[in-house]
Parts: sequence; structure tokens; C-alpha cells
Amino acid sequence: MSGGVRLCKSMEAGDVCGGHKLQAELGSGYFSTVFAAHPDLAVKIQRSKYWDEGWDEARLWERLQSTNIVRLHEHFVADLSGKRVAAKRRPKPKQLLRHVFVMPAVRGRDLMHWVDAYAEARRRPPLRLVAAVARDLFRALVVLQEANVLHTDIKPENILVESSATTLDELEEQPLTAMLTDFGCACDDWEKVSDSVCTRQYQPPESILCADYTFSLDVWSAACTVFEFATTQLLFDVRSASACSGDSHDDEVADELDEHHLSLMQSLCGEMPKRLISKGQRSRDFYSARGRLRKVAARERRPLPTQFAALGWPPAESAALCGFLLPLLQLAPSSRQGARETLDSAFLQAFAPPPCPGRVITESGE
Ligand SMILES: Nc1ncnc2c1ncn2[C@@H]1O[C@H](COP(=O)(O)OP(=O)(O)OP(=O)(O)O)[C@@H](O)[C@H]1O
Ligand SMILES: [Mg+2]
Repeated sequence: MSGGVRLCKSMEAGDVCGGHKLQAELGSGYFSTVFAAHPDLAVKIQRSKYWDEGWDEARLWERLQSTNIVRLHEHFVADLSGKRVAAKRRPKPKQLLRHVFVMPAVRGRDLMHWVDAYAEARRRPPLRLVAAVARDLFRALVVLQEANVLHTDIKPENILVESSATTLDELEEQPLTAMLTDFGCACDDWEKVSDSVCTRQYQPPESILCADYTFSLDVWSAACTVFEFATTQLLFDVRSASACSGDSHDDEVADELDEHHLSLMQSLCGEMPKRLISKGQRSRDFYSARGRLRKVAARERRPLPTQFAALGWPPAESAALCGFLLPLLQLAPSSRQGARETLDSAFLQAFAPPPCPGRVITESGE
């Protein structure tokens, strides 16, 4: 490593960024690192390579106000020493910069932490806890839709669970609020920048096939997320033989993963609708003219109830969760249940506890 690397050194605890003294790291993702800062703030610092994308993230995030969405306090551009600079997007400055987002620190952990904790303890959360998280997540999706925003990266890491619990027993006893965050991949419904979006395991078929997508894309990812929290297992555990052997080109591995993913979806949900295949720009890579997957042999059907039975779920609980998830896991985006309708579902009505006392519900119409 040369001395030049020092220029790109990440910020760390103890550094000052835009006047905020950074404390412990709260988490990190592909694009950024998030630190605690006084008083009860979280400072998300994007890697310098992606500073320019920060404008879009902020523009969309600022429009969203809800109990179930982490609120953006302010955002600014800083140089690599953490000093605020008055940068404009265009013309792009030659200097290396970072986009910084300041928000309330959520007291708690992200949902992935709790998925891992349940998996490690070989337990699963009670249905009322699953319903509480699902209800909050779908409330956030309603607000997104009202603002015409697609999140495009719904997954357990991007859902923060506000709760003072440190153990599973405490989590199950205390009130909590789930909040959506990370608008780094979000876009306006009328201004999509990419044909293929979402983190692999949460990606709906229309995104793999590069067919048009809209709000129902986030509904699919949310269903995968709720399944994962309820069972501690991925709904679609996508794998590629070549990726494991390590002797294939990246593109080949990606195609193989896509085809495996599509076959898992069909095993769970039935045949891929012809209309969706006909709309996908990449459909020919995967499907024959007769709508059969080209390379992967048809898998045995394993509908959702079969999966819950294999996990040893009692029939009544399996029926309750299947009733909730099935309308959300429709392959055809237009047949997928919308977020608002989902809030009225029998499962949420029966299992979700009343909202935490003292919470202000700001979603319109509620
Ligand atoms: N307000 C917050 N309070 C507490 N922890 C947070 C907060 N925001 C983020 N985190 C933690 O930091 C992690 C990364 O944050 P985030 O998902 O926003 O970054 P990212 O995945 O790098 O995002 P992006 O794709 O926009 O670059 C989260 O999964 C979470 O664990
Ligand atoms: Mg993230």
C-alpha cells in the first residue's frame, strides 16, 4: 500500500465529520459506514467513490415522513478530512468528496441481527412479533407508494428494530417499532435508472427478467424478508455450482444464479406467467419459446405450506402465515397484493399488537 492510500482512508471513531464527533460504529453496508454521534444521532458516511449518488438518496429520503421510516435530519458533502464543503453536483469537482447523512440513532439493532440471534438459539419468533414487524414494514411501503418512491432494496439489514431488548426473551416481551432505512438504491417510480435491482435473495422475477417493475417489487422483497424473520431461513437460497467451484466467468455465474433463482420461484409459486416472460428483455436467456427454463430441469413443486411443514411448523401457524404471504408472492407483478391492502390482511388483524403507546402515527389516512 502506498502513501496515497491515506487520502482515501475511511473515517473512524474519534474523527470529526461536519462538526459531528464520531463515536462507535453502528453498522456498515456496501456503500457506507454508519457511526453514532452526540446526542443520539447516527452519521452515515458514503464511500468517496459513491459521493455523487448521495444527491439522489437525499432527494428521495427527504420526502418520506413516517413513524416507520428513519427520518433524515440533514445531509451535506464533506472532504476527506470531514470538513463540510459547498459542493454542487455539476460540474463534478475533481476533489475526492463524501456524502454524509445525519439521522436519529435508532436504539436497537437491524432485523438481520435478530434473524441471526434466533437462528443461533434454534428458536423462531412468536407470530405476534412477526406480525408487528410485518405491519410496520408494510406501513412504510404505503408511505413510499404515496410518495411515488421505490426502495428497491428491502431486506433485513435495511430494517432497524427500535427496542431496548438485548436478548430474545426481552425482544418478545417489550414493545418495538420497525423502521425502514437505506435509500441508497431508491428511485422515483417514473425515473428508474436500472433494469435489474434488489439484493439477490429478495429480487422478484420481473427484476431478474428485466421486465418493467413498480411498487409491487418492494412487496415481493418484503414478503421474502417476513418469511426470513419468521423462519430464520432464506426463502430463496440461491446458489450456483460454478460459483462454488470458482472456475467460471462472473457473467456465467450471474446467469446461473438467475436461472437457479427462477427455478426456485417456480417450484414455490408455479409456472412463470407467459405475459411476464414476454415482457422481459432477458427472458430469452432463460426461457424456451414454450416457456420452459432452458438449462435447469423442472423442480418438484414445493408450495409454501410444504416448506412450513418441512420446518416442523404446526398447521394452524403455517396456515396463518401462508395466508399472509401467498398473495404477496404472486409471480405476476399485477396480481401481487398491494401494501395498503396487506395492512388489512387477516394475519395482521389477528396477530399484530396495537402500536407502541405514545407513538405518533403520521401516515396519511391513518
Ligand atoms: N439510524 C441508524 N441507527 C442505528 N443503526 C443504523 C442507522 N442507520 C444505519 N444503521 C446500521 O448501519 C447499517 C448500514 O446502514 P445503511 O443500510 O443505511 O448503509 P448501506 O447499506 O451502506 O447503505 P447504502 O446502500 O445507502 O450505501 C444498517 O444495516 C444498520 O445496522
Ligand atoms: Mg443497507
